[in-house]
Amino acid sequence: MKRDILKTLKAEHDELRDLFKELKATTDRGVKKRQGLLEQIEAALIPHAKWEEKVLYPAFKERADRDGLQTHAEAVAEHHAVENSVIPEVHAAEPGTPEFAGRTKVFGELIEHHAKEEEDTMFKMARKMFSAEERAQLDEDYEAWKASDGAAATLAAEKAKAGMKGAVRALTH
Ligand SMILES: [Fe+2]
Ligand SMILES: [Fe+2]
Repeated sequence: MKRDILKTLKAEHDELRDLFKELKATTDRGVKKRQGLLEQIEAALIPHAKWEEKVLYPAFKERADRDGLQTHAEAVAEHHAVENSVIPEVHAAEPGTPEFAGRTKVFGELIEHHAKEEEDTMFKMARKMFSAEERAQLDEDYEAWKASDGAAATLAAEKAKAGMKGAVRALTH
């Protein structure tokens, strides 16, 4: 069977779903566990989201009809909400608190909503827009990028940014 970028992205969504489920089951006493799970979530989510933004979404937009353009705009707006608001809120909370539990719950709910929308709408459209060969090529490109220094640098930069925004938020709330 040919490899397919849409299958890879769906598998990563499922991995995130499992991690959020585990995180939701933690208690305020499980500080280490919460920190570890948040680390894992960010390590899985950030490269996924950045690659969608840099490669998949622009390629999708180029071939999209009007409905596709709206789907694209929704997806981008959700990425921005997560990056600029939800993740910094999480970073502004101490892991052993109800605030952390509440904010990571919202984080998980938004990711679930976004992933489902991609799977049910955007990826369905993309399956028609891109040939099996193109989807296989994208999958190879994605794997190569994830193994590159560029991906590691992106993850580090995004985490530093989230930490900084979170620190500012903690000071001003
Ligand atoms: Fe996305
Ligand atoms: Fe995604």
